[in-house]
Formats: sequence, structure tokens, C-alpha cells
Amino acid sequence: MADGGLAVVRTVAELRHRIDTWRAAGETIGLVPTMGALHAGHLSLMRLAKRQADRTCASLFVNPRQFSPREDFSAYPREEAADVAKLRGEGVDLLFAPGADEMYRAGSTTQVSVPGLGDVLEGALRPGFFTGVATVVTKLLGQVAPDVVIFGEKDYQQLLVIRRLVADLDIPVEIIAGPTVREPDGLAMASRNAYLTALERTRATALHAAIKAVAAKATASDKDPAALDHAIEAAKETLAAGGFARVDYIAVLDAETLAENPPASRPRRVLGAAWLGKTRLIDNVAV
Ligand code: PAJ
Repeated sequence: MADGGLAVVRTVAELRHRIDTWRAAGETIGLVPTMGALHAGHLSLMRLAKRQADRTCASLFVNPRQFSPREDFSAYPREEAADVAKLRGEGVDLLFAPGADEMYRAGSTTQVSVPGLGDVLEGALRPGFFTGVATVVTKLLGQVAPDVVIFGEKDYQQLLVIRRLVADLDIPVEIIAGPTVREPDGLAMASRNAYLTALERTRATALHAAIKAVAAKATASDKDPAALDHAIEAAKETLAAGGFARVDYIAVLDAETLAENPPASRPRRVLGAAWLGKTRLIDNVAV
């Protein structure tokens, strides 16, 4: 089905047919996996893909396997017509938007899990989440066989998990990370921001401010770990005072391994997750 320059396909067979034609012409392929409800953060990844490869393929699949029964799978925003228009506007060549029966055909049981990186932070709080992500991303990489695949730093732990699985499974693809695109007040763009009430939206900027403050302290207090612990506690208190219902974590971790208490000689990352009403926000910044 053609849609301007953008073709929308729903089956792996149609997808492969398109990709094979490009491959036969010697063209390279870039893949941007998404769950749709596209915003400027997603679209920045499309532009990155276009610079890296001759053809850009996006995927849109709200992956049931990465939602726990208590999470928002049925409420997750689905706005495919608007997404298609945005992708067309970016000059994306192909959208793979399969149904769940096509992605997980009857009898499919194989899972990909990434112990270690996938067990901490989001993995500890959302059991099964990274196995769901790793399984669908492995499948997408097998379905599209792209030269490059693009992920956002917004989901920093997800990026590390996927780097690990691609290395461990010898998948021949280059991974490119796109910087986090933010609203003018610093809030990281996210499809779930649509859940925020007007009041919550004004409060939401505090998460980015809090992790930036911790990052500044991490730079300043290299020789004083107690000062850093203090800064983390202060950030959590600021969020609680600013109307956040719960802080899941604010942590300064090794930027490659997510190990705790990294020395200042290592690359470090501040990662945070907190609840504003019923909406869970995550963010991260480099130290
Ligand atoms: P989704 O949340 O739709 O995100 C798709 C891609 O967009 C991810 O790589 C994510 O990190 C990136 N992204 C989201 N917000 C961003 C922002 N503000 N700036 C830059 N990039 C941003 O992440 C997923 O979907 C799924 O887990 C998926 C990888 C598709 C597997 O189902």
C-alpha cells in the first residue's frame, strides 16, 4: 500500500519483499523501532537514520510482551494515521506496522533475555519488560536485517541492553544513539506525557531539573561520595515536595555497565524514574 513516498506494510513477507528490492539495488537500510504516538524525539531518530542509510524503515508495534498485566497496554496511545503523516513528512520510505498475530505467530515461545543489564533499575521494577523489548527488537532485526538501527538515549538502559544483545548474538548491525529531545522546559518528550494533567505537566519538568542537579554534584564532589548521596536524597525530597507521588530511583551509575558507585574516572550517567499521579516518567543525563 503506497502512501506518498511512504509504503505501509503489515506482514513480514511484504516487508522482506520491499527490503530485498532495495538490497538488490545495493542500497543500505536504516531501522527505527517505535511503539508509535510519534513525537519530535522519534522524528529526530528518523532524520538520523536518513543520514546513515539510503533507505529508512520505521516500525510501529505496541509490543504486548513488554507490558506487565498491571501496565497500560490497552491505554497506550494509538494514532497510526497521524504517525503515518509524520513519517511521510520526514521522507521515511517504509513503515512496518504488523498486528500482534503477525509479530507473534501461533505457537511462538522463544524469548531473548539479557541478564545483568536487564535486571536492574527498569528491569527490577518492571519484571519481564526487557525480555519483551529484547525479544521484539531481536525479531525486528531479523525481519528487516538493517545496516544500522537507531535508538534514543531517552531510554538509556534499553540502549545498553540492546547493545549487549547485539554483541552477544553476533547480530551484524551498527547501533546509533540519538540524543534526548526535550520540551522547552526540559521535560523529555515521551508518548506517555500525553497522560499528564495540566497541573502534572507543569510539575513534570522537576525530574529533569533534579537529575541535572545530581549530575552537577557528581562532577563537583568527585572526592566526597557522601556529598553525592546527599544530593540524591535532596533531589528525591525536591520531587516529593514538587508533587511526585513516588520516586522509583535516582542513581549515579557507570554509563556502560550500570554498576553502582562508579569512580569518577569512569563515564557516569544519572538515571531517574518517578511517578506523577498515574504517569511514570523516566529521564537520564550524562555526568
Ligand atoms: P518508543 O517508546 O516508541 O520509543 C522508540 C524510540 O524512540 C526509542 O529508541 C526511544 O528511546 C526513542 N525516544 C523516545 N523518546 C525520545 C526522545 N524524547 N528523544 C529521543 N529519542 C526518544 O522504546 C520503545 O518504543 C520500545 O521499547 C521499542 C524499542 C520500540 C521496542 O518495542
